[in-house]
Amino acid sequence: MHPVVAIDGPSGAGKGTVARAVARELGWRYVDTGAMYRAVAWEACRRGLALDERDEDRVAAVAADAEMELEHEHVAINGRDVTGAIRTPEMDDAAARVARLPRVRKALVARQQAYAAAGPVVMEGRDIGTVVFPGADVKIFLDATPAERAARRSSDPAHDLSRAGAIDVVADALAARDRLDRTRDASPLRKAEDATVVDTTSLQVASVVEHVLDIVRGRLEAG
Ligand code: DC
Repeated sequence: MHPVVAIDGPSGAGKGTVARAVARELGWRYVDTGAMYRAVAWEACRRGLALDERDEDRVAAVAADAEMELEHEHVAINGRDVTGAIRTPEMDDAAARVARLPRVRKALVARQQAYAAAGPVVMEGRDIGTVVFPGADVKIFLDATPAERAARRSSDPAHDLSRAGAIDVVADALAARDRLDRTRDASPLRKAEDATVVDTTSLQVASVVEHVLDIVRGRLEAG
């Protein structure tokens, strides 16, 4: 098993930006596991599947068998580029629904573990330090206040919020989705006991990245 940096936390805490920069600095692979749940949700919708227990086996088969490409910012499933299509309010909701299904999670966790068998990774999500890699070399839990997270999501160009409306609508949707992530039975969002919490509310991205890199280098040197 190659070294793993696990970065978890709620939406809008800065996981993507920080994990990508840390991976670039280390020269390691970056894996956005939220994009995997989103791509599965997108393909399930395209096939007209129910995003709940009724079609759990079919959605889990998509999660297990679909050809998925996650290269830099680009996401493709079964050869279709879904980079923009997976970041809409509808897909926020659809991804949170498929992420509640244990058999879907099992299939994606297996794929996530396979990435670390191939080389060192910086992986971000909700359950990376608790379920996917409980033995990760470094575990970071990024957080920020709900107001700050909503402000960041509203100004994130990767997310198509043109139909989402005002920032308080974004804040409400984010809070509702966080509640789903934290209260689901299957691998809810929670901090691993041995994770380092970094509150990014009033920090610049560069200083969060430096802080995380310091932790990673310290841990790698300590062996
Ligand atoms: O990080 P994101 O917003 O792109 O994630 C999309 C959804 O998938 C969100 O509802 C949380 C869920 N998710 C998860 O349950 N486990 C992960 N490891 C990553 C994301």
